[in-house]
Amino acid sequence: MASTIVRVEPFDLVVFGGTGDLAYRKLYPALYHRWQDGQFDAQTRILGVSRQKVHPLAFRDQVAEALTKFAPGFDATTDSDKAFLSILDYMTLDAMSDQGWGQLSDRLNEQPDKIRAYYLATSPDIFQAIANGLKRSGLVTPNARLIVEKPIGKDLKSASAINAALGAVFEERQIFRIDHYLGKETVQNLMVLRFANALFEPLWNAAHIEQVQITAAETVGVGSRGPYYDTSGALRDMVQNHLLQLLCLTAMEPPAAYAADAIRDEKLKILRCLTPITAANVAEETARGQYRAGISDGGSVRGYIEELGKPSMTETFVALRVFVGNWRWSDVPFYLRTGKRLPKRESEIVVTFRKVPHSIFPKRIGGLEPTELVIRLQPDEGIKLWLTIKEPGPGGLRVQRVPLDMSFAQAFGAASPEAYERLLMDVIRGDQTLFMRRDEVEAAWQFIDPILAAWTDRAEAPKPYTAGTWGPSNAIALVERNGHTWYEEHD
Ligand code: BG6
Repeated sequence: MASTIVRVEPFDLVVFGGTGDLAYRKLYPALYHRWQDGQFDAQTRILGVSRQKVHPLAFRDQVAEALTKFAPGFDATTDSDKAFLSILDYMTLDAMSDQGWGQLSDRLNEQPDKIRAYYLATSPDIFQAIANGLKRSGLVTPNARLIVEKPIGKDLKSASAINAALGAVFEERQIFRIDHYLGKETVQNLMVLRFANALFEPLWNAAHIEQVQITAAETVGVGSRGPYYDTSGALRDMVQNHLLQLLCLTAMEPPAAYAADAIRDEKLKILRCLTPITAANVAEETARGQYRAGISDGGSVRGYIEELGKPSMTETFVALRVFVGNWRWSDVPFYLRTGKRLPKRESEIVVTFRKVPHSIFPKRIGGLEPTELVIRLQPDEGIKLWLTIKEPGPGGLRVQRVPLDMSFAQAFGAASPEAYERLLMDVIRGDQTLFMRRDEVEAAWQFIDPILAAWTDRAEAPKPYTAGTWGPSNAIALVERNGHTWYEEHD
């Protein structure tokens, strides 16, 4: 089943930080793939902007080099791929001074009514300067959109300051805060699964669900991102945004409509009813770890501290037990877990239903296992429902767990587009559904801040774990206290 391409209107996209890692690794490849599928045409212009002095032709060469690496299938000798390179341009601009703004405005005002998007692929320290520069230069037109990347702040205070600075220049409807997890195919499928099938929703509550686990495991270490990562840690880097967003989509009430604000209102309600984790319960509800040398990604790897080159108290692994304090989820633990240098790259949501209240089967069959729904974000996006069935054959009654397994790649015959592809096209369409609203970001920090404060007060180093293992042992204890275990693929 091939997907249908819905074309977008021609647009101008200005990438601040246009020669940075994010732009080369993610943004230009994503745009190239959308171009390849014919989602926009050569009236669109993509303008890289940064302080560096680069000739526009040299910039195209650099993008071509990045596409060769990160966009399989790119071939600069074909007419179509040459045409893609020809819509790219480059300008030198210093966000912190007046240099370059006049030229940018001349260029964009050639077509003042066109949709234009400003992508801030830069450090958040200069978000405000860029927003103000755009305003001063008369570039904030009604058709303009601003795209910002995480981290939006490092706590509630700094996030509110960034939001206020951007809000002073752009209306909220124009600000697109990217959480790339929301652009993943299965994340949206979670909403369709829940709200387009009558099967799940009646069971989607504390009466029928025993526990929920949300894991985002990575095999990579922090590598060259050490200096940034060390000021962040796993809680800020992954939980404040990606994992809490997944929790919200899993736990939220049915929104009134599949519409941006209706969905975001429901997510916000979940964030606001998370039971706080503070100094009083941080030791029971959280586990922090930091990787040591070990075997990972198919070879021996160094520990976090050796990679960083200095001692550090930053966690590279975190697990939390979170409760959503409302009627639907009363006393159901949501376990969140994420870390670097874990045994597999795997992100998934596992919903474990309660066991049947009584077994009618002979004792020799043993205890019946609960039904589990596994929503896999990566790799191999798909959905699995583990059910108990009779083992085939005549040898008396035996039961066995088997999955109803739907791999999207197998079902649809193609890999789904990268998150950035979908998100960029949604920005052009002006669709905010998969972006975080200001109040959501701030409510997420409101939950995270007391955990950070409690950790700081305790001044305890994160527990070491060997690279290539599932984190420190207290992460196992965290779930075992409730008689649970972390989900592991059964087959
Ligand atoms: C980013 C984090 O937001 O997400 C990274 O800053 C992390 O540390 C990445 O590696 C994970 O994304 P994905 O899509 O590979 O799961």
